[in-house]
This record gives sequence, structure tokens and C-alpha cells, in this order.
Amino acid sequence: MVVALVTVGLWTALAAGSASGPHPATERPAPLDDLDLRTVTDMGSREGDELRDWMIAGAPEAVLRGAFAYDQNCSVCHGDTGLGYEEARLAFPADHRSCTRCHRPDNVREMSFETMMERQHDLFDVGDPPALRGPGALAAFATDEALLAYTKATMPRYQPGRLDDEGYADLVAFMRWIASPP
Ligand code: HEC
Ligand code: HEC
Repeated sequence: MVVALVTVGLWTALAAGSASGPHPATERPAPLDDLDLRTVTDMGSREGDELRDWMIAGAPEAVLRGAFAYDQNCSVCHGDTGLGYEEARLAFPADHRSCTRCHRPDNVREMSFETMMERQHDLFDVGDPPALRGPGALAAFATDEALLAYTKATMPRYQPGRLDDEGYADLVAFMRWIASPP
């Protein structure tokens, strides 16, 4: 446990100190793509946040803003570093990882926060959120314009169009950046 925390601190320090080119010139942290190597407690894992910070160290402002917006609006379904539903579930407490217990698959996909508070255990369907990075990810979107149009029209899935145009542009910058970590 202590070892894991020290290691995370080290990536952050190295990444902050020696960023050059599109990605930090430090060794790729092993758990970046391998979910089995993550430290996951009963309370859920925050390791993904550290890994995302490593991925964006030294990135342009738009990517950093996009990472913040992603954390606020998207990581809950697509995972802290964009690996999709399985990664997303790791961040939840153990007794909340069966999302469909409350987010029932036959339910509507969109819902206001007000309605969420009223319904508690009978909420919008979260679907099957795909990975946004890794082999074949985002292959359907040849251009940034196409990715932006899709994201703005459909995401976050339960409340599409919630961000302003700049927010969606930042998210596209972030998604393109994480698509090719070193
Ligand atoms: C409630 C869960 C949820 C949230 C929150 C969410 N998504 Fe999604 N996302 C999905 C699902 C499920 C899909 C698959 C298509 C569908 O069912 O609409 C998807 C598809 C996508 C795709 C298309 C991926 C592909 O390769 O086809 C992109 C891009 C995307 N989401 C980006 C985002 C961004 C950016 C945010 C935050 C603004 C976000 N999503 C928030 C569930 C979610
Ligand atoms: C015990 C019931 C329950 C389970 C299990 C559950 N949720 Fe939720 N979820 C809620 C409630 C209640 C809200 C609305 C209030 C809030 O935000 O806490 C909510 C809100 C959300 C939201 C919208 C607000 C936000 O925080 O982004 C998303 C997205 C979401 N849940 C995804 C998930 C995913 C993914 C899982 C599985 C890993 C999951 N939930 C498991 C009850 C649950």
C-alpha cells in the first residue's frame, strides 16, 4: 500500500519536472492500461486520477481544461483514464459497482438531477460506455469536427449539451491527447 502511494507520487514528480514533447519523457506507469495492476480498495480506487495527471503533464492549456471537464462529466462512465466501463467501476465503492442495480437497463437514458434525487434506486440507464483510448478507440471519428459534433449532441449521455462550446472543444483536445500516450 505504502509502496503504491510512493510510486504514484514519483510519477507525478517526474512527469511535472521533465515534460518534453507531447508526453512526459518518463517511464510509462505499468497500471496505465492494465486494470488488474490497479490498487482497488473497498472504497474504490483513486489511482486513475494520478494516472490521468501523468498522461496530461506538460500538455497545452486546452487539454488541461479538458481533463478537468472530463473528470467532472465523463470519467464516472468512461473511466479515469478513458478505458471505459470496467475502469469506471473501479472508482466506486465495492457495493456500488453493479451499476444496473440502480441504473436499470430498461430505463430512459436522460434524466435531470432533480428527478435523480427523487428516484434514488431507479435511475437512468448508463448503457455500456466504450473505451475512449486504446486499440480502435474513436475510430468512428475521422476529424475533430465529427468528434465534437457527436460529443456535444450526445454526451454526457444522461444530460447531453450540458457544457458550453468551449467546454466541448476542450474535451475533444483532451480525448485526442490521451488517444496516444507514449
Ligand atoms: C452515463 C454514462 C456516460 C457519461 C456520463 C458519458 N458517456 Fe460517453 N458514452 C456512454 C455510452 C453508453 C456510449 C456508447 C454510445 C451510447 O450508448 O450512447 C458513449 C459513447 C461516447 C463516445 C463515442 C465513442 C465511440 O468510439 O463510439 C464518446 C466520444 C463519448 N461517449 C464521450 C463522452 C464525453 C466526452 C463525456 C463527458 C462530457 C461522456 N462521454 C459522458 C456513456 C456515457
Ligand atoms: C445504490 C444505487 C446506485 C448505484 C449502484 C449506482 N448509482 Fe449512479 N447514481 C445513483 C444516484 C442516487 C444518483 C443521483 C445522485 C447522485 O449524484 O449521487 C446517481 C448518479 C449517477 C450519475 C450522474 C451524476 C454523476 O455523479 O455524474 C452517473 C453518471 C452515475 N450515477 C453512474 C453510475 C455508475 C457508472 C455506476 C456503477 C459503477 C453507478 N452509478 C452505480 C445511484 C446509484
